[in-house]
Amino acid sequence: MARVIEFGSNCEVPRTLRPSAAAARGLAYTEEVRRAVDHLYDEVKDFVTPMEWPEFAPLVHGICKLKAERNAVVLAHNYMTPDIFRLIGDFRGDSLQLAREAASVEADVIVQAGVHFMAETSKILSPNKTVLIPDTRAGCSLAASITGEDVKLIKAKYPGLPVVTYVNTTADVKAESDITCTSSNAVQVVEHVAKAWNVDKVILIPDEYLARNVAANTKIKIVTWHGRCEVHEQFSAADVAAIRDAHPGVIVLAHPECPPDVLQSADFAGSTSALAHYVKERSPNKVVLLTECSMSDNVAAENPGVEFVKPCNLCPHMKRISLETIYDALLEMKHVVEVDEATRVRAKRAIDAMLALPKTKQPLDFAIDRELAVLEVV
Ligand code: 13P
Ligand code: SF4
Repeated sequence: MARVIEFGSNCEVPRTLRPSAAAARGLAYTEEVRRAVDHLYDEVKDFVTPMEWPEFAPLVHGICKLKAERNAVVLAHNYMTPDIFRLIGDFRGDSLQLAREAASVEADVIVQAGVHFMAETSKILSPNKTVLIPDTRAGCSLAASITGEDVKLIKAKYPGLPVVTYVNTTADVKAESDITCTSSNAVQVVEHVAKAWNVDKVILIPDEYLARNVAANTKIKIVTWHGRCEVHEQFSAADVAAIRDAHPGVIVLAHPECPPDVLQSADFAGSTSALAHYVKERSPNKVVLLTECSMSDNVAAENPGVEFVKPCNLCPHMKRISLETIYDALLEMKHVVEVDEATRVRAKRAIDAMLALPKTKQPLDFAIDRELAVLEVV
């Protein structure tokens, strides 16, 4: 069994279910529920105690029934807690994988178990489906850092340069962009667009740290914005040194939304799926994932025998999504995500340009031993 070691003084284990959440909805741990979902318990045994299971099981059962009734699918991001990710997620993965699923999935309803920009992306790609976000407050500090008007000003300042926009943005921002990217393909997209436009400089917004990490991986010059992920910006090179001191031999994997010196002191860097892929392929004895906390629980469940050091930085937005809010969203068909048609069509063009790039065999990683390139921050 994977052993999870907590690290850090303010580590709180995410508990997204309130006591009596099932009873408050008229749901109980009946014989029917036991028969239908008890066999799933093993999937979450490292996260949900046997005493807690009678609270989780009726909601899992209720959600499965509602999914069938509504012809709905749940797209679950890697940062969801294991009860959501492993028990009710129909498609699971990183931002790029979820966007690809949203574009092709056959269903009437998509429930986005992720944050608002992901739900908007699903709606942009699947306008005829009903897209639900279980909690409208599930935002993102990167998406909140920039508006479509800001992008117009950047374009006016740098005429003739292509705009590559991270998917962690609103539809308005995507609508002003030439192509989107995710942490899985950012370097690939930047190099593709520079070649297609015959330029040696591109605008890559809004994550300054992602842009710095991309700049260290390409000869293309980068102009960026001052957005930050409030979760990943908290990691520091000093944290990495402290983790290595406390856990000799630990392999350090970092997400490229972390500051560049964190990547430079890590052993490997990439998107959430690249990090999961690394653990699966290499089976390190002991590993730390410098990314959102729940991701370690999900990767640990799939890699028994690997020891995880858990730096508990939770994304408060992702953690607004729970079995309760997913159940309520499906029951009441709330909160429906809409994007006005003119914006949607323009934003879709930018996302389609990214989805048209060749799929890589495996998630791309970031070289971590490169000199930092100078870049312009608007
Ligand atoms: P990826 O899953 O694309 O690596 O993104 C991480 C993230 O922070 C999403 O909010
Ligand atoms: Fe946004 Fe960071 Fe949360 Fe991802 S982890 S949703 S980038 S705030």
